[in-house]
Amino acid sequence: MANDASAVFDTLSPAVSKGSLADPFTPPADSSLWRKNFLLGAATASYQIEGAVNEDGRLPSIWDTFSAIPGKVLAGDTGAVACDHYHRWEADVEMLASLGLEGYRLSIAWPRVMDAAGAPNRKGIDFYKRLLNRLKEKGITTFVTLYHWDLPQHLEDRGGWLNRDTAYRFADYADLMSCELAGTVDAWTTLNEPWCSAYLGYGNGHHAPGLANDRFATQAMHHLLLAHGLAVPVLRANDPASQKGIVANIGRGTANSDSAADQRAAHLFEVQHNAWILDPLLKGSYPQDLFELWPGTEPLVLDGDMETISAPLDFLGINYYFRTNVASDGAHGFRDVPLEGVERTQMGWEVYPDGLRDLLIGFKETYHNLPPIYITENGMASDDEVTDGRVEDTQRISFLKRHLAAVDQAIKAGVDIRGYFLWSLMDNFEWAFGYERRFGVVHVDYSTQKRTIKRSAELVEKFLQERKAKA
Ligand code: FCB
Repeated sequence: MANDASAVFDTLSPAVSKGSLADPFTPPADSSLWRKNFLLGAATASYQIEGAVNEDGRLPSIWDTFSAIPGKVLAGDTGAVACDHYHRWEADVEMLASLGLEGYRLSIAWPRVMDAAGAPNRKGIDFYKRLLNRLKEKGITTFVTLYHWDLPQHLEDRGGWLNRDTAYRFADYADLMSCELAGTVDAWTTLNEPWCSAYLGYGNGHHAPGLANDRFATQAMHHLLLAHGLAVPVLRANDPASQKGIVANIGRGTANSDSAADQRAAHLFEVQHNAWILDPLLKGSYPQDLFELWPGTEPLVLDGDMETISAPLDFLGINYYFRTNVASDGAHGFRDVPLEGVERTQMGWEVYPDGLRDLLIGFKETYHNLPPIYITENGMASDDEVTDGRVEDTQRISFLKRHLAAVDQAIKAGVDIRGYFLWSLMDNFEWAFGYERRFGVVHVDYSTQKRTIKRSAELVEKFLQERKAKA
């Protein structure tokens, strides 16, 4: 596929960076984004925004434990206070509604709603009931993720995702939540990014719980996907009106040269990042190439597991951020070869919208049963500052516009994409990078908890108003 999404729309044009264009965001008239039923929203996750980690009976999570270990998180940051959303949720919902955002993707903190014996924690459940009821009153479509990485520590103490039993505990948790919250949730997603939970958590140790072993990663992935598969029928039984899906992060891998070895390396990169999750979900099997990359790491799979994992989904959530340029490592795998002279974000991630389009089109070709897609996360970090009460996040405006153009191109190529959630509604605890990396369309001053709407959010709001007026 030609790399033309960036060329179609302006990159960081001088006019945009000076803030002098009246509207550098609004999509062209023929964009699918103008369709009234294309959902535009924003996303957050419990540990990244809630704070209040010791309140109302919340138990410790693996991220409380991990972030307390010196050296694991930049500047020693933790989610203990975060955006204090647990106390400020009403104002945050007002802010979301005032921006005209139509959808909100949030996650539930498992350690807030169940005790160690699996009994409901009423106070924690009531928090989410109030929040979801208010969102419904505001007419906002709700996407609720059951697991965005904050595993109760007591389950990790029994092996976490290396222990098959955790998958059954997850199904119990899904049962409780869907009984309690049915009617307030439009779409349930079981897991956020099992690749990160399995690989960063158990494969390289960059995330909680911080274990580093490829064999652990493949077994943790299997139990995560099993947890998903066990939960889906439970969610269907308790809350039949809602949609059920899962969220996968996907990565584009491109080859550093035309050599067969580098082409193979790029293929293996995408097997490790994408097919490892999507094949079991959509084909009912693990990609065998994965075990060429990591010999001897086949997980223990029991009879019936793959059928459980590959039960049909109502939608697939896709999170996309960047591409990785790779070459052969001379053995079984690949190594990163960072490209010079490309646009990058505060994370150092390359801005590469074509990757999103090309992957989506590729999935449609590979998976004949590909469900409808929501882009459940896309966005970028920048070193945003408030100046005279304003935040001019020009790179983000350009980034969002180009990625939405890539989504439009994928739709026009026949991929069924129903919506897009900005990551993130507000700056928050960015895992191992703490508070330094700002992904929000709303700025958060962590010393005062003051929220400041960034220019990007104003422009999204303006577009949504225009779209409404046309309808
Ligand atoms: C994703 C996570 C999300 C956020 C973004 C930047 O991998 O799902 O919580 O940290 O990256």
